[in-house]
Amino acid sequence: MSLVLGIETSCDETAAAVVENGTLIRSNVVASQVELHRRFGGVYPEVASRQHVLDIVPVIEEALRIACVDWTELHAIAVTNGPGLVGSLLVGLNAAKALAWAKGLPLIGINHLEAHLYANWLVTPSIVGSAQIAVPAPEFPLICLIVSGGHSDIVLVHGHRSYCLLGRTIDDAAGEAFDKVARLLGLGYPGGPAIQAAARRGDPCAFALPRAWLEPSYDFSFSGLKTAVLRLVQNQSAHVPATQRDRPDSATLHMGLSDGFIADVAASFQSAVVEVLVEKARRAAAAYNVKELLLAGGVASNALLRERVCALGIPVRYPPPALCTDNAAMVAAAGHFRLGSALANNWGLDVQPGHSLFHNGSCAQTPIKASHQ
Ligand code: KG4
Ligand code: ZN
Repeated sequence: MSLVLGIETSCDETAAAVVENGTLIRSNVVASQVELHRRFGGVYPEVASRQHVLDIVPVIEEALRIACVDWTELHAIAVTNGPGLVGSLLVGLNAAKALAWAKGLPLIGINHLEAHLYANWLVTPSIVGSAQIAVPAPEFPLICLIVSGGHSDIVLVHGHRSYCLLGRTIDDAAGEAFDKVARLLGLGYPGGPAIQAAARRGDPCAFALPRAWLEPSYDFSFSGLKTAVLRLVQNQSAHVPATQRDRPDSATLHMGLSDGFIADVAASFQSAVVEVLVEKARRAAAAYNVKELLLAGGVASNALLRERVCALGIPVRYPPPALCTDNAAMVAAAGHFRLGSALANNWGLDVQPGHSLFHNGSCAQTPIKASHQ
């Protein structure tokens, strides 16, 4: 049996969790900074680091208290050391390092994207229940679509720690596009949930927005779509009387736009993003003949995306929404599967803000006619 303490501070969530055997969540504490950053319309890095400093110790204490776990019962500390905001990563890593040294525990550095993948291995006590139902683990080989505020990757996973990057965004990440379009529409931060809510009242066919297929690659591009939304909003706001807008800049373009227009743009935009994500993931799953298709990352909590992948008729799996967005349970789960390679006296571990886990060109197996699948 293993008990791993996970620590996550790569962006604007201070999180700690205890996970048993890489699957069962014993505790999962997240101190969100969303309210703090809302007035800036996005994450303000310096404010984020300072808040992590204030929250990290109470969050770790709370995670151990809820898990009813003593330091002597832990087998390792796993901490996100990249990619992410350097100041934020440093707070989590230094806390983890100090605790690992003081308590004599192995310290394991975890890539944030690998952690998102391992959210698919997690089960909560409410799922397992008193009957201890065994939830089958994901089966390899699998495709994971990792879509967050910073990444949009399609990864072929042959086994634990065996990855091949098939495609990624060449400009904006999917979550970043959601956040930027939400800001244009005056829907606030974070943009993903706000667009999803507005889209429920809108018509996804109202506007024919562009899809960047970038055939035959598995890469994504969302900047053209974002610019198309900007043009729509600019055209529409040209009809809004100037008196309804106090300042004529892009941050105030949405003022005076009708709720109906905003809902239609949100629905059309969401539909365009989801269509490309689902089709590329489907094509990769077919080309590599995988056993399962997994979703991960904050955008994986999007209801339309989940609905559309389920309709593909292939085995699909995604974490509950609270485990799609940043948390430390996924870090602890990834740590469990790296326990065997944990280094003793790993005190040289450093933050790697631009750390890439997935390397192109290392695919053991090539697809047959990938572009026509
Ligand atoms: O994985 P995550 O919590 O943090 C990063 O690693 O970036 O992802 C955050 C991103 C944000 O861009 C947010 O707008 C997006 O996930 N997101 C969503 C939804 N919930 C969060 N995007 C679309 N639909 C959602 N329901
Ligand atoms: Zn994340």
